[in-house]
Amino acid sequence: MKVLARVETQAAHAARLLGDASPAVRELVMGTLRWQLTLDSLLERHLRQPMAALDALVRSALRVGLYEARRMRTPAPVAVAEAVRLTKAAVPRAAGLVNAVLRRAVTESWPDVTDAAVPLSVRYSHPAWLLERWLALFGEQATVAALAADQEVAPLYLLASVSHLDELAAAGCSVRPHPVVTGIVTVSAGTGVAVAALQAGRAYAIDPTAAAVARLLPEVDGLTVDLAAAPGGKSLVLASERPQRRVLAADRHLGRAVLMSRNFRLVAPAPVAAVADAAAPPLRPRSCGAVLVDAPCSGTGTLRRHPEIRWRLRAGDLYSLSAVQRRMAAAAAELVAPGGFLLYATCSLEPEENADVVAALSLEAVPVAARLPSGLGRVELSSGGVAIPPGAAGDGFTVHLLRRGA
Ligand SMILES: C[S@@+](CC[C@H](N)C(=O)[O-])C[C@H]1O[C@@H](n2cnc3c(N)ncnc32)[C@H](O)[C@@H]1O
Repeated sequence: MKVLARVETQAAHAARLLGDASPAVRELVMGTLRWQLTLDSLLERHLRQPMAALDALVRSALRVGLYEARRMRTPAPVAVAEAVRLTKAAVPRAAGLVNAVLRRAVTESWPDVTDAAVPLSVRYSHPAWLLERWLALFGEQATVAALAADQEVAPLYLLASVSHLDELAAAGCSVRPHPVVTGIVTVSAGTGVAVAALQAGRAYAIDPTAAAVARLLPEVDGLTVDLAAAPGGKSLVLASERPQRRVLAADRHLGRAVLMSRNFRLVAPAPVAAVADAAAPPLRPRSCGAVLVDAPCSGTGTLRRHPEIRWRLRAGDLYSLSAVQRRMAAAAAELVAPGGFLLYATCSLEPEENADVVAALSLEAVPVAARLPSGLGRVELSSGGVAIPPGAAGDGFTVHLLRRGA
């Protein structure tokens, strides 16, 4: 309840706050965030005021109690009693309200995803403004598939080439090859063993789409530079699959660069890790064969892993992100040697952070959709890039590959 209130009122990251939390607590927090709008719609039927008018802790108690009663195996009376107990400790005067509202709300039927009488935003618990944008960009079928994917729990995926899978197997962790993206394995049993291996630097977790996106950067002569590289996933893919190429991986944040250099111990030859601002990289203009910018972004392609983003993001945020991304992309484009490539990617589906950013560059777009694994969804964009909506196979991304004429 307190974690949820901090996520809501202090813009804290749920996954970070959860740290080593038990799987049950993780499901309770992430599931509550994922289904927040649906939960609120059921709760508000029994409230005299809107959810927004309540104290943040009370709001969280109501959401958690209803989620636990309806989406977990906890019997409803137990879930209600627990929410009331927590409220008594935190906001005693609201315990009666939580008890009365939850006892009624737990009897409501959960909206059927096919019930057109219920707004799509409520059925799939996404803000209407974001969903309307996706409908306009991707059409109904792809949007509904993306919404459904966002409501699932993301499996743990490992980059096979750098993870010590033999050690994991010996310790009781089972993996299976990812059905769509080669070189990725899905942890199917023994998640605790895999998490311990990640913490000990014996394995690397990566989203399958992220790996597929990194591979779109053509293998060319000259230096390969990853300008916003931490924690290093895409550089690890490139370094492990192209051992004859030199990879320089930079990130502006020292702590993240240190974390990245630790991750690079998993591969030989390792990329060189550096601290640098992608908007002013300390490299000569036109000196790099291949440049990757996986820019900091809104993350609207990652809502299954970061469910709270959807409640926090405002349309106006896209413009400030876009301004930063434009500076990074412009500086990155300057580094590209004649005949070289710039891969500009974000885990955002929004045009402001993607097509609008590359439109300002004087490089030529190279189509990439046909080079993606066939099981990944894709929407080809008029900018020459491709949006990959989130799906069962992996997170959502938008990618543009650009080339400087020889
Ligand atoms: C989306 S993440 C990169 C993920 C990484 N490519 C991977 O696959 O693991 C964006 C990164 O950009 C970094 N960043 C933000 N602003 C930057 C800047 N001006 N210059 C360089 N890196 C920056 C952040 O610290 C963050 O690590």
